[in-house]
Amino acid sequence: MVVVGDWGFQNRLNRIIKPKSGRCVMLAIDHGYFGNIPGQLKCFTDMKPLFEYADALMLTRGMLRNCVPAELDVPIVLRVSAGASMLKELSNEEINVSIEDAIRLNVSAITCSIFVGGEYEKQSLMNLSKLVNFGQEYGIPVLAVTAVGREMVRDARYLGMASRMAAELGATFVKTYYCENFEEVTSICPAPVVIAGGKKIEERDALQMSKNAVEKGAKGVDMGRNIFQSDSPLGMIQAVRAIVHDNASVDEAYEIYKQGPKGL
Ligand code: 5RP
Repeated sequence: MVVVGDWGFQNRLNRIIKPKSGRCVMLAIDHGYFGNIPGQLKCFTDMKPLFEYADALMLTRGMLRNCVPAELDVPIVLRVSAGASMLKELSNEEINVSIEDAIRLNVSAITCSIFVGGEYEKQSLMNLSKLVNFGQEYGIPVLAVTAVGREMVRDARYLGMASRMAAELGATFVKTYYCENFEEVTSICPAPVVIAGGKKIEERDALQMSKNAVEKGAKGVDMGRNIFQSDSPLGMIQAVRAIVHDNASVDEAYEIYKQGPKGL
């Protein structure tokens, strides 16, 4: 039920999580914000053909301004946190984009990472809380990313706890990693959950992971490397879409991937 005062918030969210399927395929290309510049991100201008297949792009202010044509009608999930490179302590980040600039950029959601168990856990949780307060004030959904520190185990207990905490703090939706017993993550988190792809794996395995995730309660993916580092990024994003939006089987999706053009 949408109350009148929440119209802008709901409209932005509906642009990302599509009401028809209740699911979404976001393309994550924010990796460079901490100095991680894999594969196609080195020559980001080549990625435009992918954008039209994404329900939303998750990226930084700099990537948005430089790499996404303003005429493109794709919702933006803007990363608004920064402060540490992959050479230092990743959890030591703060909010680096004003809400005014996020609004000026016409974003559909804002996002930051939380580092539960990390050295700067409190700072990251307060970052999320700041975004939730901004979001409440201006009607902008907030995506919380449950980032995993080097020493954290990516299991259902940890990821479920971090996802639940994000929802308790007011995140609109939560991005986490897929793990064994993933239903224990989604069942404990009252906000919609999407999965990150993680490091590049075989295409069939990435499709199987996407299938498992939605079957176990995820509302979709916010995937980066397993799409743009594939030998067929266009085939891969369409294959993931078929699983997420059309409930395609892994075999059907793999055929879609195989028929995709090589490269971008
Ligand atoms: C970094 C992020 C990335 O967007 C996230 O890792 C998703 O990309 P990938 O599918 O390549 O893992 O949030 O903190």
